[in-house]
Amino acid sequence: MGYHHLSSIMSTTHVNMIFLFVFISYLISVTHCVPFIVLHGIGDKCRNRGVTQFTELLSNWSGSPGYCIEIGDGSWDSWTMPLLEQTAVACEKVKNMNELRDGYNIVGLSQGNVIGRGLIEFCDGGPPVKNFVSVGGPHAGTASIPFCGSGIVCVLVDILIKSEIYSSYVQEHLAPSGYLKIPTDIANYLSGCKFLPKLNNEIKAAQNSTYKERFASLENLVLIMFEHDTILIPKETAWFGYYPDGSFDHVLPAQETQLYIEDWIGLRTLDEAGKVKFINVSGNHLDISRNDMKKYIVPYLGDQASAQPMRVESLDHKWVSLVKNFLMELVGVVKKQPLLRIMH
Ligand SMILES: *[C@@H]1O[C@H](CO)[C@@H](O)[C@H](O)[C@H]1NC(C)=O
Ligand SMILES: *[C@@H]1O[C@H](CO)[C@@H](O)[C@H](O)[C@H]1NC(C)=O
Ligand SMILES: *[C@@H]1O[C@H](CO)[C@@H](O)[C@H](O)[C@H]1NC(C)=O
Repeated sequence: MGYHHLSSIMSTTHVNMIFLFVFISYLISVTHCVPFIVLHGIGDKCRNRGVTQFTELLSNWSGSPGYCIEIGDGSWDSWTMPLLEQTAVACEKVKNMNELRDGYNIVGLSQGNVIGRGLIEFCDGGPPVKNFVSVGGPHAGTASIPFCGSGIVCVLVDILIKSEIYSSYVQEHLAPSGYLKIPTDIANYLSGCKFLPKLNNEIKAAQNSTYKERFASLENLVLIMFEHDTILIPKETAWFGYYPDGSFDHVLPAQETQLYIEDWIGLRTLDEAGKVKFINVSGNHLDISRNDMKKYIVPYLGDQASAQPMRVESLDHKWVSLVKNFLMELVGVVKKQPLLRIMH
């Protein structure tokens, strides 16, 4: 009797020890939990299924809370609100989110990437950005307006394109004109384009070292390029590669551009510190697979590099997603499935 009693106490203790161990390992993993935001592409909105699913999957897999940041009404404003204004709206939003106060990561989709970079460089008093994962971003510009279609917005777009893209009217009414860089029209681009020249510190007289300092302080910069991208012209802009001034002949790799060589925004500093990951994935623009999301995005959303205070509110969420991840890996339900197709 006594022996039996003792052994059952011991096994209870044993079970408790296992629980304690699991709980402690679990707490250790939670201490690294950093929230992230998603900035969607042009013509999209946070409520669309593709974006919702993208954010949720990343959140479920990383165990970090993720928030899609909407600017204005989403699709219409993404086309028509100038990017400096879009950046200012996003800046106010992140400043007002208590969840981000200790720092956060950014995942940008297409046009959302230049807004993301605007947040890093221009958002005075904003919370610190740790990792920036760029999915198909027009970082060095694009030489064509994104494919549109036949909706009402596109009619407007067509009318606007037919006039001068670097005129202040177009700059004030068509967001992508803010990163449209026609290599054979550089003088007008530098004087008329309101967003990218500032973002990339391209105008010598107006270069601002604060933008560079802020961008260079990232922990990691992940640049994902789509091998079969037909929307970004050239696709290498996702890696900061671009045409040389004055010609469409060939594409310079990032390392051969002035932006890199003279380190206008800190890209070279980051690269030389081993903090830039140049990633090449198959597929057309934003046609990213679940496997590639897991391989190239999720690892940066855990932020193993810096310890954060534990966030009690995310305990349940984290626990559920850990178990779910494990089961999903086990059953092998993870399959290649495109999410965000083309943005319109
Ligand atoms: C993420 O996890 C939650 C909670 O388990 C689940 O309801 C949701 O469907 C998951 N999202 C996706 C896109 O799989
Ligand atoms: C550079 O940008 C910072 C941050 O926005 C701003 O405070 C500062 O005034 C700017 N410097 C110049 C010389 O414009
Ligand atoms: C991207 O990957 C493909 C296939 O893996 C390769 O052929 C191509 O050269 C790569 N592109 C760059 C710019 O590295």
